[in-house]
Amino acid sequence: MTSKASGSITVTLDGSNKSTTLPLLGGTLGPQVADIRKLYGDLGIFTYDPGYGATASCESTITYIDGDAGVLLYRGYPIEQLAENSDFLEVCYLLLNGELPNKAEFADFHKGVTYHTMLHEQLRRFYDGFRRDAHPMAIMCGVVGAMAAFYHDNLDINDENQRRIAAFRLIAKVPTIAAWAYKYSVGQPFLYPRNDLGYAENFLYMLNGVPAEEYVNNPILSRAMDRILILHADHEQNASTSTVRLAGSTGANPFACIAAGIAALWGPAHGGANEAVLKMLAEIGTPENIPAFIKEVKDKNSHTKLMGFGHRVYKNFDPRAKIMKDTCHEVLAELGIKDEPLLDMAMEMERIALEDDYFVSRKLYPNVDFYSGIILKAMGIPTSMFTVLFAVARTVGWVSQWKELIEDPSQRIGRPRQIYTGAPSRDFVAIDKRG
Ligand code: CMC
Repeated sequence: MTSKASGSITVTLDGSNKSTTLPLLGGTLGPQVADIRKLYGDLGIFTYDPGYGATASCESTITYIDGDAGVLLYRGYPIEQLAENSDFLEVCYLLLNGELPNKAEFADFHKGVTYHTMLHEQLRRFYDGFRRDAHPMAIMCGVVGAMAAFYHDNLDINDENQRRIAAFRLIAKVPTIAAWAYKYSVGQPFLYPRNDLGYAENFLYMLNGVPAEEYVNNPILSRAMDRILILHADHEQNASTSTVRLAGSTGANPFACIAAGIAALWGPAHGGANEAVLKMLAEIGTPENIPAFIKEVKDKNSHTKLMGFGHRVYKNFDPRAKIMKDTCHEVLAELGIKDEPLLDMAMEMERIALEDDYFVSRKLYPNVDFYSGIILKAMGIPTSMFTVLFAVARTVGWVSQWKELIEDPSQRIGRPRQIYTGAPSRDFVAIDKRG
Protein backbone atom coordinates (compact mmCIF):
# COMPACT_ATOMS: atom_id res chain seq x y z
CA MET A 1 0.00 0.00 0.00
CA THR A 2 1.47 3.38 -0.93
CA SER A 3 -1.29 5.69 0.29
CA LYS A 4 -0.29 7.66 3.38
CA ALA A 5 -2.00 7.93 6.75
CA SER A 6 -3.42 11.43 6.97
CA GLY A 7 -5.42 11.46 10.20
CA SER A 8 -8.19 9.41 11.68
CA ILE A 9 -11.88 9.44 12.52
CA THR A 10 -13.51 8.02 15.59
CA VAL A 11 -16.77 6.19 15.18
CA THR A 12 -18.97 5.71 18.23
CA LEU A 13 -21.87 3.32 18.21
CA ASP A 14 -24.93 5.16 19.55
CA GLY A 15 -26.38 3.69 22.74
CA SER A 16 -23.26 1.73 23.60
CA ASN A 17 -19.82 2.48 24.96
CA LYS A 18 -18.17 0.98 21.90
CA SER A 19 -16.08 3.10 19.62
CA THR A 20 -13.17 2.68 17.23
CA THR A 21 -10.67 4.90 15.53
CA LEU A 22 -10.32 4.48 11.80
CA PRO A 23 -7.26 5.69 9.90
CA LEU A 24 -7.75 8.26 7.16
CA LEU A 25 -5.66 7.62 4.06
CA GLY A 26 -4.54 10.12 1.46
CA GLY A 27 -3.45 9.51 -2.11
CA THR A 28 -1.58 11.87 -4.43
CA LEU A 29 -4.79 13.66 -5.44
CA GLY A 30 -8.41 13.36 -4.40
CA PRO A 31 -10.33 13.23 -1.12
CA GLN A 32 -9.25 11.45 2.04
CA VAL A 33 -10.49 7.91 2.43
CA ALA A 34 -11.55 6.26 5.70
CA ASP A 35 -10.00 2.82 6.03
CA ILE A 36 -12.96 0.87 7.41
CA ARG A 37 -11.38 -2.58 7.39
CA LYS A 38 -11.46 -3.00 11.15
CA LEU A 39 -14.95 -1.56 11.58
CA TYR A 40 -16.64 -4.97 11.61
CA GLY A 41 -14.05 -6.48 13.93
CA ASP A 42 -14.23 -3.57 16.40
CA LEU A 43 -17.92 -2.65 16.27
CA GLY A 44 -19.59 -5.58 14.49
CA ILE A 45 -21.08 -3.35 11.78
CA PHE A 46 -20.77 -3.26 7.99
CA THR A 47 -20.95 -0.21 5.75
CA TYR A 48 -23.77 0.09 3.20
CA ASP A 49 -23.03 1.68 -0.17
CA PRO A 50 -25.07 0.25 -3.06
CA GLY A 51 -23.58 1.36 -6.35
CA TYR A 52 -20.29 2.10 -4.49
CA GLY A 53 -20.80 5.88 -4.72
CA ALA A 54 -18.59 6.48 -1.67
CA THR A 55 -16.31 3.47 -1.71
CA ALA A 56 -12.71 3.21 -2.89
CA SER A 57 -12.25 -0.43 -3.86
CA CYS A 58 -8.50 -0.33 -4.43
CA GLU A 59 -5.38 1.80 -4.63
CA SER A 60 -4.44 2.69 -8.18
CA THR A 61 -1.76 4.73 -9.91
CA ILE A 62 -3.32 4.63 -13.37
CA THR A 63 -6.12 7.15 -13.83
CA TYR A 64 -7.39 10.10 -11.83
CA ILE A 65 -10.72 11.86 -12.21
CA ASP A 66 -11.82 15.04 -10.47
CA GLY A 67 -15.52 15.00 -11.27
CA ASP A 68 -16.21 18.49 -9.89
CA ALA A 69 -13.42 20.14 -11.87
CA GLY A 70 -13.88 18.05 -15.04
CA VAL A 71 -10.34 16.68 -14.89
CA LEU A 72 -9.15 13.35 -16.31
CA LEU A 73 -5.51 12.29 -16.03
CA TYR A 74 -3.84 9.14 -17.35
CA ARG A 75 -0.75 8.51 -15.21
CA GLY A 76 -0.82 12.23 -14.37
CA TYR A 77 -1.11 13.52 -17.93
CA PRO A 78 -4.26 15.54 -18.79
CA ILE A 79 -6.48 13.84 -21.36
CA GLU A 80 -6.54 17.02 -23.47
CA GLN A 81 -2.73 16.93 -23.89
CA LEU A 82 -2.69 13.24 -24.72
CA ALA A 83 -5.54 13.59 -27.25
CA GLU A 84 -3.72 16.48 -28.91
CA ASN A 85 -0.11 15.28 -28.86
CA SER A 86 0.06 11.53 -28.36
CA ASP A 87 -1.28 8.51 -30.19
CA PHE A 88 -3.20 5.49 -28.99
CA LEU A 89 -0.29 3.04 -28.91
CA GLU A 90 1.82 5.48 -26.93
CA VAL A 91 -1.11 5.92 -24.52
CA CYS A 92 -1.31 2.12 -24.24
CA TYR A 93 2.35 2.04 -23.23
CA LEU A 94 1.76 4.83 -20.73
CA LEU A 95 -1.25 3.14 -19.13
CA LEU A 96 0.47 -0.23 -18.92
CA ASN A 97 3.89 0.93 -17.78
CA GLY A 98 3.31 4.19 -15.94
CA GLU A 99 5.65 6.39 -18.00
CA LEU A 100 5.81 7.67 -21.57
CA PRO A 101 8.25 5.56 -23.59
CA ASN A 102 11.51 6.73 -25.09
CA LYS A 103 12.08 5.92 -28.78
CA ALA A 104 13.67 2.52 -28.19
CA GLU A 105 11.01 1.50 -25.65
CA PHE A 106 8.27 2.56 -28.02
CA ALA A 107 9.79 0.68 -30.98
CA ASP A 108 9.96 -2.43 -28.82
CA PHE A 109 6.37 -2.02 -27.65
CA HIS A 110 5.14 -1.37 -31.19
CA LYS A 111 6.85 -4.55 -32.33
CA GLY A 112 5.30 -6.48 -29.44
CA VAL A 113 1.78 -5.35 -30.38
CA THR A 114 2.08 -5.81 -34.14
CA TYR A 115 3.66 -9.25 -33.67
CA HIS A 116 0.39 -10.42 -32.10
CA THR A 117 -2.29 -8.91 -34.35
CA MET A 118 -3.27 -12.14 -36.11
CA LEU A 119 -5.77 -14.56 -34.58
CA HIS A 120 -5.25 -18.29 -34.32
CA GLU A 121 -6.76 -19.53 -37.58
CA GLN A 122 -9.04 -21.96 -35.74
CA LEU A 123 -10.55 -19.06 -33.80
CA ARG A 124 -11.95 -17.89 -37.13
CA ARG A 125 -14.33 -20.84 -37.13
CA PHE A 126 -15.98 -19.56 -33.97
CA TYR A 127 -17.65 -16.88 -36.04
CA ASP A 128 -19.57 -19.48 -38.06
CA GLY A 129 -21.29 -20.59 -34.87
CA PHE A 130 -23.02 -17.23 -34.45
CA ARG A 131 -26.29 -16.33 -36.12
CA ARG A 132 -25.84 -13.94 -39.00
CA ASP A 133 -27.74 -11.21 -37.10
CA ALA A 134 -25.81 -11.64 -33.83
CA HIS A 135 -24.96 -8.38 -32.09
CA PRO A 136 -21.19 -7.86 -32.45
CA MET A 137 -20.92 -7.35 -28.67
CA ALA A 138 -22.21 -10.92 -28.22
CA ILE A 139 -19.50 -12.10 -30.59
CA MET A 140 -16.90 -10.04 -28.70
CA CYS A 141 -17.84 -11.62 -25.33
CA GLY A 142 -17.64 -15.10 -26.85
CA VAL A 143 -14.49 -14.79 -28.95
CA VAL A 144 -12.44 -12.85 -26.38
CA GLY A 145 -13.39 -15.39 -23.68
CA ALA A 146 -12.47 -18.19 -26.11
CA MET A 147 -8.93 -16.82 -26.42
CA ALA A 148 -8.20 -18.63 -23.14
CA ALA A 149 -8.70 -21.89 -25.03
CA PHE A 150 -6.06 -20.95 -27.61
CA TYR A 151 -3.27 -19.23 -25.73
CA HIS A 152 -2.50 -21.69 -22.95
CA ASP A 153 1.10 -20.55 -22.87
CA ASN A 154 0.22 -17.31 -21.13
CA LEU A 155 -2.44 -18.24 -18.60
CA ASP A 156 -0.15 -18.27 -15.56
CA ILE A 157 -1.11 -14.99 -13.92
CA ASN A 158 1.81 -15.22 -11.49
CA ASP A 159 4.40 -15.16 -14.27
CA GLU A 160 5.30 -11.58 -15.18
CA ASN A 161 6.35 -12.47 -18.71
CA GLN A 162 3.13 -14.36 -19.36
CA ARG A 163 1.14 -11.37 -18.10
CA ARG A 164 3.09 -9.16 -20.52
CA ILE A 165 2.36 -11.45 -23.46
CA ALA A 166 -1.32 -11.71 -22.52
CA ALA A 167 -1.46 -7.89 -22.51
CA PHE A 168 0.12 -7.73 -25.97
CA ARG A 169 -2.22 -10.41 -27.28
CA LEU A 170 -5.34 -8.69 -25.99
CA ILE A 171 -4.43 -5.20 -27.20
CA ALA A 172 -3.25 -6.52 -30.57
CA LYS A 173 -6.03 -9.00 -31.32
CA VAL A 174 -9.11 -7.15 -30.07
CA PRO A 175 -9.36 -4.91 -33.19
CA THR A 176 -9.12 -8.02 -35.39
CA ILE A 177 -11.84 -9.78 -33.37
CA ALA A 178 -14.03 -6.65 -33.50
CA ALA A 179 -13.60 -6.03 -37.23
CA TRP A 180 -14.37 -9.66 -38.01
CA ALA A 181 -17.54 -9.48 -35.88
CA TYR A 182 -18.68 -6.70 -38.20
CA LYS A 183 -17.57 -8.40 -41.42
CA TYR A 184 -19.44 -11.51 -40.34
CA SER A 185 -22.66 -9.55 -39.84
CA VAL A 186 -22.50 -8.04 -43.34
CA GLY A 187 -21.32 -11.21 -45.07
CA GLN A 188 -18.01 -9.78 -46.27
CA PRO A 189 -14.68 -11.62 -46.20
CA PHE A 190 -12.52 -11.18 -43.11
CA LEU A 191 -9.45 -9.06 -43.71
CA TYR A 192 -6.20 -10.02 -42.02
CA PRO A 193 -4.45 -7.28 -40.05
CA ARG A 194 -1.80 -5.20 -41.80
CA ASN A 195 1.18 -4.41 -39.63
CA ASP A 196 2.39 -1.68 -41.99
CA LEU A 197 -0.58 0.45 -40.88
CA GLY A 198 -1.01 2.30 -37.59
CA TYR A 199 -3.30 0.84 -34.92
CA ALA A 200 -6.38 2.96 -35.75
CA GLU A 201 -5.64 2.86 -39.47
CA ASN A 202 -5.41 -0.93 -39.45
CA PHE A 203 -8.66 -1.18 -37.52
CA LEU A 204 -10.45 1.04 -40.07
CA TYR A 205 -8.89 -1.00 -42.88
CA MET A 206 -10.15 -4.29 -41.41
CA LEU A 207 -13.62 -2.72 -40.92
CA ASN A 208 -14.06 -0.87 -44.19
CA GLY A 209 -11.69 -2.50 -46.65
CA VAL A 210 -12.61 -5.24 -49.13
CA PRO A 211 -10.20 -7.58 -50.92
CA ALA A 212 -11.56 -6.52 -54.31
CA GLU A 213 -10.31 -2.94 -54.03
CA GLU A 214 -7.25 -1.10 -52.85
CA TYR A 215 -7.88 0.49 -49.46
CA VAL A 216 -7.26 4.23 -49.32
CA ASN A 217 -6.63 5.56 -45.86
CA ASN A 218 -7.99 8.98 -44.93
CA PRO A 219 -5.47 10.33 -42.40
CA ILE A 220 -8.00 12.73 -40.85
CA LEU A 221 -10.40 9.87 -40.18
CA SER A 222 -7.74 7.55 -38.83
CA ARG A 223 -6.50 10.38 -36.59
CA ALA A 224 -10.09 10.91 -35.37
CA MET A 225 -10.41 7.18 -34.69
CA ASP A 226 -7.08 7.24 -32.84
CA ARG A 227 -8.34 10.12 -30.70
CA ILE A 228 -11.60 8.30 -29.93
CA LEU A 229 -9.53 5.32 -28.80
CA ILE A 230 -7.41 7.55 -26.53
CA LEU A 231 -10.50 9.15 -24.97
CA HIS A 232 -11.98 5.76 -24.11
CA ALA A 233 -8.76 4.02 -23.03
CA ASP A 234 -9.29 4.10 -19.26
CA HIS A 235 -11.60 5.65 -16.70
CA GLU A 236 -10.57 4.35 -13.26
CA GLN A 237 -12.97 2.09 -11.35
CA ASN A 238 -16.07 2.24 -13.61
CA ALA A 239 -18.50 -0.69 -13.83
CA SER A 240 -16.64 -2.73 -16.46
CA THR A 241 -13.21 -2.12 -14.92
CA SER A 242 -14.51 -3.07 -11.50
CA THR A 243 -15.94 -6.21 -13.11
CA VAL A 244 -12.53 -7.03 -14.60
CA ARG A 245 -10.91 -6.48 -11.20
CA LEU A 246 -13.51 -8.57 -9.37
CA ALA A 247 -13.08 -11.43 -11.86
CA GLY A 248 -9.29 -10.99 -11.67
CA SER A 249 -9.34 -11.12 -7.87
CA THR A 250 -10.43 -14.77 -8.07
CA GLY A 251 -7.31 -15.65 -10.07
CA ALA A 252 -9.26 -16.06 -13.32
CA ASN A 253 -7.17 -15.83 -16.50
CA PRO A 254 -6.87 -12.46 -18.27
CA PHE A 255 -8.99 -13.44 -21.29
CA ALA A 256 -11.88 -14.49 -19.03
CA CYS A 257 -11.52 -11.24 -17.06
CA ILE A 258 -11.60 -9.03 -20.17
CA ALA A 259 -14.60 -10.98 -21.53
CA ALA A 260 -16.35 -10.19 -18.22
CA GLY A 261 -15.48 -6.51 -18.71
CA ILE A 262 -16.93 -6.56 -22.22
CA ALA A 263 -20.17 -8.01 -20.86
CA ALA A 264 -20.44 -5.23 -18.26
CA LEU A 265 -19.62 -2.56 -20.82
CA TRP A 266 -22.51 -3.65 -23.05
CA GLY A 267 -25.24 -2.15 -20.85
CA PRO A 268 -26.87 1.13 -21.96
CA ALA A 269 -25.94 2.87 -18.69
CA HIS A 270 -22.26 2.27 -19.56
CA GLY A 271 -20.67 1.62 -22.98
CA GLY A 272 -23.97 0.83 -24.64
CA ALA A 273 -24.91 4.51 -24.29
CA ASN A 274 -23.21 5.59 -27.56
CA GLU A 275 -25.47 3.23 -29.51
CA ALA A 276 -28.48 4.31 -27.42
CA VAL A 277 -27.83 8.02 -28.15
CA LEU A 278 -28.23 7.49 -31.89
CA LYS A 279 -31.34 5.37 -31.40
CA MET A 280 -32.77 8.10 -29.18
CA LEU A 281 -32.00 10.86 -31.70
CA ALA A 282 -33.51 8.81 -34.51
CA GLU A 283 -36.65 8.18 -32.48
CA ILE A 284 -37.06 11.85 -31.62
CA GLY A 285 -36.83 12.53 -35.34
CA THR A 286 -36.86 16.34 -35.60
CA PRO A 287 -35.85 19.24 -33.34
CA GLU A 288 -39.51 20.23 -32.82
CA ASN A 289 -40.00 17.00 -30.91
CA ILE A 290 -37.19 17.72 -28.44
CA PRO A 291 -39.30 19.64 -25.84
CA ALA A 292 -41.82 16.77 -25.68
CA PHE A 293 -38.95 14.29 -25.28
CA ILE A 294 -37.36 16.36 -22.50
CA LYS A 295 -40.75 16.47 -20.76
CA GLU A 296 -40.89 12.68 -20.94
CA VAL A 297 -37.35 12.39 -19.51
CA LYS A 298 -38.37 14.56 -16.55
CA ASP A 299 -41.39 12.36 -15.84
CA LYS A 300 -40.14 9.79 -13.32
CA ASN A 301 -42.80 7.31 -14.38
CA SER A 302 -41.57 7.22 -17.97
CA HIS A 303 -38.17 5.60 -17.12
CA THR A 304 -36.80 7.50 -20.14
CA LYS A 305 -33.24 8.82 -19.79
CA LEU A 306 -31.51 11.43 -21.86
CA MET A 307 -28.84 9.07 -23.17
CA GLY A 308 -25.32 10.50 -23.32
CA PHE A 309 -26.09 12.77 -20.36
CA GLY A 310 -25.06 12.42 -16.74
CA HIS A 311 -22.19 10.64 -15.08
CA ARG A 312 -21.58 9.09 -11.70
CA VAL A 313 -18.36 11.05 -11.18
CA TYR A 314 -18.47 14.11 -13.46
CA LYS A 315 -20.71 16.71 -11.86
CA ASN A 316 -19.38 19.59 -13.91
CA PHE A 317 -18.53 18.46 -17.42
CA ASP A 318 -16.96 15.42 -18.94
CA PRO A 319 -13.63 16.60 -20.44
CA ARG A 320 -13.85 13.82 -23.02
CA ALA A 321 -17.17 15.19 -24.29
CA LYS A 322 -15.57 18.54 -25.14
CA ILE A 323 -12.81 16.91 -27.19
CA MET A 324 -15.37 14.62 -28.80
CA LYS A 325 -17.54 17.57 -29.84
CA ASP A 326 -14.56 19.32 -31.48
CA THR A 327 -13.53 16.09 -33.20
CA CYS A 328 -17.09 15.70 -34.43
CA HIS A 329 -16.96 19.10 -36.16
CA GLU A 330 -13.53 18.27 -37.67
CA VAL A 331 -14.71 14.93 -39.05
CA LEU A 332 -17.88 16.36 -40.54
CA ALA A 333 -15.88 19.19 -42.16
CA GLU A 334 -13.38 16.70 -43.59
CA LEU A 335 -16.15 14.60 -45.01
CA GLY A 336 -17.80 17.69 -46.49
CA ILE A 337 -20.95 17.12 -44.43
CA LYS A 338 -22.29 20.65 -44.02
CA ASP A 339 -25.64 19.72 -42.71
CA GLU A 340 -25.91 16.75 -40.37
CA PRO A 341 -29.41 16.69 -38.87
CA LEU A 342 -28.29 14.41 -36.03
CA LEU A 343 -25.58 16.87 -34.98
CA ASP A 344 -28.04 19.76 -35.18
CA MET A 345 -30.44 17.77 -33.02
CA ALA A 346 -27.74 16.85 -30.52
CA MET A 347 -26.60 20.47 -30.18
CA GLU A 348 -30.17 21.67 -29.77
CA MET A 349 -30.79 18.97 -27.19
CA GLU A 350 -27.66 19.99 -25.29
CA ARG A 351 -28.71 23.67 -25.40
CA ILE A 352 -32.22 22.95 -24.10
CA ALA A 353 -31.03 20.54 -21.41
CA LEU A 354 -28.34 22.87 -20.10
CA GLU A 355 -30.94 25.58 -19.61
CA ASP A 356 -33.43 23.30 -17.90
CA ASP A 357 -33.51 23.26 -14.11
CA TYR A 358 -34.02 19.46 -14.03
CA PHE A 359 -30.59 18.90 -15.61
CA VAL A 360 -28.87 21.92 -14.05
CA SER A 361 -29.92 21.07 -10.49
CA ARG A 362 -28.81 17.45 -10.92
CA LYS A 363 -25.54 18.51 -12.56
CA LEU A 364 -26.23 16.46 -15.69
CA TYR A 365 -23.91 17.33 -18.58
CA PRO A 366 -23.14 15.63 -21.89
CA ASN A 367 -20.79 12.70 -21.38
CA VAL A 368 -18.28 11.08 -23.77
CA ASP A 369 -21.02 9.15 -25.53
CA PHE A 370 -23.19 12.11 -26.49
CA TYR A 371 -21.18 13.09 -29.57
CA SER A 372 -19.14 9.96 -30.27
CA GLY A 373 -22.00 8.18 -32.06
CA ILE A 374 -22.43 11.08 -34.48
CA ILE A 375 -18.74 11.00 -35.43
CA LEU A 376 -18.75 7.24 -35.81
CA LYS A 377 -21.87 7.31 -37.95
CA ALA A 378 -20.32 9.98 -40.19
CA MET A 379 -17.24 7.76 -40.53
CA GLY A 380 -19.47 4.98 -41.83
CA ILE A 381 -19.26 2.81 -38.69
CA PRO A 382 -22.57 0.98 -38.15
CA THR A 383 -24.43 1.72 -34.92
CA SER A 384 -24.11 -1.85 -33.64
CA MET A 385 -20.32 -1.42 -33.68
CA PHE A 386 -20.20 1.67 -31.44
CA THR A 387 -19.95 -0.20 -28.14
CA VAL A 388 -17.54 -2.67 -29.74
CA LEU A 389 -15.27 0.23 -30.55
CA PHE A 390 -15.45 1.36 -26.93
CA ALA A 391 -14.41 -2.19 -25.94
CA VAL A 392 -11.45 -2.09 -28.34
CA ALA A 393 -10.26 1.15 -26.76
CA ARG A 394 -10.95 0.13 -23.16
CA THR A 395 -9.10 -3.19 -23.45
CA VAL A 396 -5.80 -1.50 -22.58
CA GLY A 397 -7.39 0.12 -19.51
CA TRP A 398 -8.85 -3.19 -18.37
CA VAL A 399 -5.54 -4.97 -18.92
CA SER A 400 -3.58 -2.26 -17.07
CA GLN A 401 -5.98 -2.40 -14.12
CA TRP A 402 -5.93 -6.20 -14.10
CA LYS A 403 -2.12 -6.18 -14.13
CA GLU A 404 -2.05 -3.64 -11.30
CA LEU A 405 -4.43 -5.81 -9.29
CA ILE A 406 -2.35 -8.95 -9.75
CA GLU A 407 0.84 -7.08 -8.86
CA ASP A 408 -0.67 -5.53 -5.71
CA PRO A 409 0.48 -7.60 -2.68
CA SER A 410 -2.53 -6.42 -0.66
CA GLN A 411 -5.05 -7.77 -3.17
CA ARG A 412 -7.61 -10.28 -1.88
CA ILE A 413 -10.61 -11.87 -3.51
CA GLY A 414 -13.37 -9.23 -3.94
CA ARG A 415 -16.23 -10.27 -1.71
CA PRO A 416 -18.79 -7.63 -0.64
CA ARG A 417 -21.31 -8.30 2.14
CA GLN A 418 -25.00 -7.41 2.28
CA ILE A 419 -27.90 -6.34 4.47
CA TYR A 420 -30.00 -9.48 4.62
CA THR A 421 -33.71 -8.63 4.51
CA GLY A 422 -35.11 -12.11 3.83
CA ALA A 423 -36.94 -14.51 6.13
CA PRO A 424 -35.38 -15.15 9.54
CA SER A 425 -34.17 -18.67 10.31
CA ARG A 426 -37.08 -21.14 10.19
CA ASP A 427 -37.67 -24.90 10.11
CA PHE A 428 -38.34 -26.87 6.96
CA VAL A 429 -42.00 -27.93 6.51
CA ALA A 430 -42.82 -31.10 4.53
CA ILE A 431 -44.87 -30.43 1.35
CA ASP A 432 -48.03 -32.16 2.66
CA LYS A 433 -47.98 -30.00 5.80
CA ARG A 434 -47.74 -26.66 3.94
CA GLY A 435 -50.89 -24.52 3.78
N1 CMC B 1 -31.49 11.56 -17.99
C1 CMC B 1 -32.39 11.93 -17.08
N2 CMC B 1 -32.19 11.94 -15.75
C2 CMC B 1 -30.99 11.52 -15.32
C3 CMC B 1 -29.98 11.11 -16.21
C4 CMC B 1 -30.25 11.13 -17.60
N3 CMC B 1 -29.33 10.76 -18.47
N4 CMC B 1 -28.89 10.73 -15.51
C5 CMC B 1 -29.21 10.91 -14.22
N5 CMC B 1 -30.48 11.39 -14.11
C6 CMC B 1 -31.18 11.77 -12.86
C7 CMC B 1 -31.58 10.53 -12.06
O1 CMC B 1 -32.86 10.10 -12.43
C8 CMC B 1 -31.53 11.09 -10.65
O2 CMC B 1 -32.66 11.90 -10.45
P1 CMC B 1 -33.35 11.96 -8.98
O3 CMC B 1 -32.31 12.54 -8.07
O4 CMC B 1 -34.54 12.83 -9.16
O5 CMC B 1 -33.70 10.55 -8.62
C9 CMC B 1 -30.33 12.04 -10.68
O6 CMC B 1 -30.22 12.47 -12.05
C10 CMC B 1 -29.03 11.42 -10.23
O7 CMC B 1 -28.77 10.32 -11.09
P2 CMC B 1 -28.31 8.89 -10.61
O8 CMC B 1 -29.14 7.86 -11.30
O9 CMC B 1 -28.19 8.82 -9.13
O10 CMC B 1 -26.87 8.89 -11.24
P3 CMC B 1 -25.91 7.64 -11.34
O11 CMC B 1 -24.58 8.14 -10.95
O12 CMC B 1 -26.44 6.48 -10.57
O13 CMC B 1 -25.95 7.26 -12.89
C11 CMC B 1 -25.49 7.27 -15.20
C12 CMC B 1 -25.01 7.70 -13.80
C13 CMC B 1 -24.39 7.56 -16.21
C14 CMC B 1 -25.76 5.75 -15.20
C15 CMC B 1 -26.78 8.04 -15.55
O14 CMC B 1 -26.50 9.43 -15.57
C16 CMC B 1 -27.38 7.59 -16.87
O15 CMC B 1 -28.10 6.60 -16.91
N6 CMC B 1 -27.07 8.33 -17.99
C17 CMC B 1 -27.54 7.92 -19.30
C18 CMC B 1 -26.69 6.78 -19.83
C19 CMC B 1 -25.32 7.26 -20.28
O16 CMC B 1 -25.18 8.23 -21.00
N7 CMC B 1 -24.29 6.49 -19.87
C20 CMC B 1 -22.90 6.75 -20.27
C21 CMC B 1 -22.06 7.18 -19.12
S1 CMC B 1 -20.46 7.83 -19.66
C22 CMC B 1 -19.67 6.53 -20.44
C23 CMC B 1 -19.51 5.30 -19.60
O17 CMC B 1 -19.22 5.38 -18.41
O18 CMC B 1 -19.67 4.23 -20.16
